[in-house]
Amino acid sequence: MTTHKIALTVNGIQEQVEVPSNMTLLTMLRERLGLTGAKNGCAAGECGACTVMMNGEPVNSCLVLAVEAEGAEIVTVEGLSNENGLDGLQEAMIEVTGTQCGFCPPGGLISARALLDRNPSPSEDEIKDALRGNLCRCTGYVRILESVKQAAKGG
Ligand code: FES
Ligand code: FES
Repeated sequence: MTTHKIALTVNGIQEQVEVPSNMTLLTMLRERLGLTGAKNGCAAGECGACTVMMNGEPVNSCLVLAVEAEGAEIVTVEGLSNENGLDGLQEAMIEVTGTQCGFCPPGGLISARALLDRNPSPSEDEIKDALRGNLCRCTGYVRILESVKQAAKGG
């Protein structure tokens, strides 16, 4: 298998990784960089558990080849928090119990963060639309919606 050296920024850190042509961005993040926040739910673009931000837009990282991320800026759920604490969305999700098993939130949080970055005061329909690709088998979605609404109120 041919391998390629790629350079990209992940959560603000410059990385250089050697990857086979057929490795997905998801596998590279999890197995080469040890960022296991994004999950492999379906490996088919159906569940959204693998969602990461690529140049500011949420993508299903199971459908992106690592080589396609050459030069990209990637943000994973690990990159939402910093030395000042958790992202407001994470705080809100904890406060309203918007998570149960924890499998879907890494992807949903990235989709919601991308939404709030471009639209800080979304309507309920806009939140639902932004999260339509992030399936959750635990919460029934109501509290996830509440989390995003609360984070939006908090600015
Ligand atoms: Fe990528 Fe399900 S693992 S969409
Ligand atoms: Fe379990 Fe969403 S919290 S799948």
